[in-house]
Amino acid sequence: MKGIILAGGAGTRLYPLTIATSKQLLPIYNKPMLFYPLSTLMLARIRDILVISTHEDTPNIMRLLGDGSQFGINLSYIVQERPEGLAQAFTLGKNFIGDDSCAMILGDNIFYGNGLGRKLAAAEKSTENGNASIFGYYVEDPERFGIMEFLRKSEGFEESVEVISVEEKPAHPKSNYAIAGLYFYPKGVSEMAEQVKPSARGELEITTLNEMYLQQGRLQAQLLGRGFTWIDAGTVDSLRRATNFVCMIEQYQGMTISAPEEIAYRLNWIDDVKLAESAAKYGKSPYGEHLRNVLEGKIIL
Ligand code: DAU
Repeated sequence: MKGIILAGGAGTRLYPLTIATSKQLLPIYNKPMLFYPLSTLMLARIRDILVISTHEDTPNIMRLLGDGSQFGINLSYIVQERPEGLAQAFTLGKNFIGDDSCAMILGDNIFYGNGLGRKLAAAEKSTENGNASIFGYYVEDPERFGIMEFLRKSEGFEESVEVISVEEKPAHPKSNYAIAGLYFYPKGVSEMAEQVKPSARGELEITTLNEMYLQQGRLQAQLLGRGFTWIDAGTVDSLRRATNFVCMIEQYQGMTISAPEEIAYRLNWIDDVKLAESAAKYGKSPYGEHLRNVLEGKIIL
């Protein structure tokens, strides 16, 4: 399975913060925003990842992430000349995806919670059966998101649900469940994306692509329930909430979260030597200190 991090856009909702830098390079507490979506794809065991960003921002993102070898992965880059919509990622990435299935995460989306790996594995499995997979998350302001209407398949704490409809930023939302910015698609997604027509606001919407899978009876969904955190950090307020959240988790547990080098190390994608190199590169920062603690076996999980 391939992975895409979509990290373009102008970030106008964050002006003046994003005039001279990319939104996805802004800090969420002690690390760049991009480390969070990158960690999520790595937790899904995805090692071939394409980063899509703007002409101006791509060189800086490359300075941060390089070719991915420090994370034991392969990173490649493509420029999106204009922000023409999320679904465009799959046409821009057509050669990269080839005959594979593909997950896409938005570069400003943070996922955190116990059991994430299991949910990612379930989504990946669904692509093997030709299905697309999305995640629903309860929100108070559903008009701001892509929304899914669904039926519960069974009583109790069942997490997977039957999607009835999907709508992009509806004026009258049919549910309070936002479609989070992490999508799994089976092989053939680029050809499907080529058929997406621009919406009224002129964008190639990811929701249109999801609707096409739904019409074909090939859209699955899981809920991210209580105890799970999803943050779209694309506004001033949600950026602050994301920072507060990560700070709270890390200080409470005394451990760094979403460190791609640590994930790579635990997955045996990099060895002690590579981890030590990264720790040395980050020097005396708390992040470097964390990697040294991992290397010395002080932190087990
Ligand atoms: O965060 C989840 C939401 O993301 C979903 O619920 C919506 O269905 C989906 O449309 C999207 O809504 P947003 O309002 O957050 O989309 P936005 O236009 O802000 O784009 C999301 C990110 O993708 C943003 O960080 C910029 C980047 N982007 C956006 C577009 C349109 C690109 O890199 N290229 C693009 O062409």
